[in-house]
Amino acid sequence: MPAINSPIAFSSPAHVAAFNMPAINSLQDLLADQLNGLFSAEQQLIEALPKMAEASTGEGLKQGFLDHLKETKVHATRLENALAQLGIKGGRKTCKAMQGLVAEGVEVIALDSPGPIRDVALIGAARRVEHYEIAAYKATRALAGAVNEDSVADLLQQTLDEEADADKKLCTLSGPITEAANEGAPATANASGPRSKRSASAPVEKKNKPSPFQLGNHAAPRGPILVN
Ligand SMILES: [Fe+2]
Repeated sequence: MPAINSPIAFSSPAHVAAFNMPAINSLQDLLADQLNGLFSAEQQLIEALPKMAEASTGEGLKQGFLDHLKETKVHATRLENALAQLGIKGGRKTCKAMQGLVAEGVEVIALDSPGPIRDVALIGAARRVEHYEIAAYKATRALAGAVNEDSVADLLQQTLDEEADADKKLCTLSGPITEAANEGAPATANASGPRSKRSASAPVEKKNKPSPFQLGNHAAPRGPILVN
């Protein structure tokens, strides 16, 4: 395998062979490659989401993961349909980005933490996934439009809308779950520590204070990122 910090490595035939890269000679080829990557990403999520649901303690979060599992199966079917329209079979690529995101999710599932704390971490892991998917679907949908594959672009847009909705639902859930973790975790995690004393004497977290997740979302530019 070539050294990845070598500028030559990324364009050399040796690099192409070492990474088993397909020949991509047109935007149609690139579209097929990206659809295959998305298909891999969705397949990995179909495996991961039940485990994230099982690790959740908040009922709303658990059900949210299970609901998104149903949507994710539809996303995979749409990608199969899109690939079929291009005369291509899925399953020829592994999405390495999603492998990394799922690996982080597995770390969260294994956290030795009170339930609400783990729930907050699960929301963070899930939102990383959603934002990756939103970016990937937007890029692929734009590519489909550029090569006049309008019905493929429509399929991708349907999924893109659902991914954006899933991220918004996670953002909505993050407020009360983060608040519960903020109030409950110090007392259970460290009953005699300074954080516990602060919890007992300090006023309850202001209801209107946005969670860090909400701040992150609202700080982003409107429109181009989540909705298009
Ligand atoms: Fe999806």
